Amino acid sequence: MWEIKRNPKFDEITKGYKLFPIPYLARWDILMLLIRQYKLKQIVEVGVYRGDTAKRILRDHHSFFEKGTLGSPLLFEHYHMIDRYPSKQCLELAKEYSNISTFICSNSMDAVKKFQDKSLDLVFIDACHGYKEAKEDLEIWLPKIKKGGWIVGHDFYLAGVDPWHEDVKRAANEVLGYRDYYIFPEVEPWGRSCTFMKRIM
Ligand SMILES: C[S@@+](CC[C@H](N)C(=O)[O-])C[C@H]1O[C@@H](n2cnc3c(N)ncnc32)[C@H](O)[C@@H]1O
Repeated sequence: MWEIKRNPKFDEITKGYKLFPIPYLARWDILMLLIRQYKLKQIVEVGVYRGDTAKRILRDHHSFFEKGTLGSPLLFEHYHMIDRYPSKQCLELAKEYSNISTFICSNSMDAVKKFQDKSLDLVFIDACHGYKEAKEDLEIWLPKIKKGGWIVGHDFYLAGVDPWHEDVKRAANEVLGYRDYYIFPEVEPWGRSCTFMKRIM
C-alpha cells in the first residue's frame, strides 16, 4: 500500500493558513489544474533548473493536444522559462516545443523587463529562496500578472531542515498579505515541500 510521508511539523507550520482543497499533488499538477480551470495562456516559470516542472507542463500539454478532439484549442499559448543558467534539458525542451515555449537565459531582474504590465496569466516563482530574493521576485513579477491571473511560488517552507525555507513564507506574507493566499503540501520524493498560490483580482 502506498503511504504518503507526512511532514510531522506540517500542522504547526501551516496553522491558520488557507489550505488549497486538493492537497498532495505535485507542483506541475497544480499548475496544469490552474491552466485548464482558468484558461491561462501566457505562463512564466522563474527558475527552471533542469526543467522538471516545465517538461511535465510542455509534454502534458503536447500529449493532450495530440490526443485531444479535433480542433481542440491549444491549452495555453506560451511557456516562458527563465533561468540565469542554461541547463541542457531546458534548452532541449525549448527546442522541442519551440512553437509554445522559449528559454530566456537571464536573471529574474533583467528578464522581467521583457514583459509588459498585466500581460501574464500565471507566474511560477521558484528561483532563489532567500528572504530578500524571494520578496524581490514576488514584488517585480506581481505587476506583470493580469487581473484574474495567478501567482504561484515553490518551497513555502521546508520544516526544520533548511531554515532559509521559512524565508519564502515571510516574503509571501509580506507581499501577498498575511496568510492571504492558498498553500498546499506536495508529494515529492522527500515528501516535505509546500507551494503557495494566489489569484490576482
Ligand atoms: C529550485 S531550482 C528550480 C526548480 C524548477 N522550478 C522545478 O520545478 O524543477 C532554482 C533555479 O533558480 C535559478 N535562479 C536562482 N536565482 C535566480 C535568479 N535571480 N534569476 C534567474 N534564475 C535564478 C537557479 O539557477 C536554479 O536553476
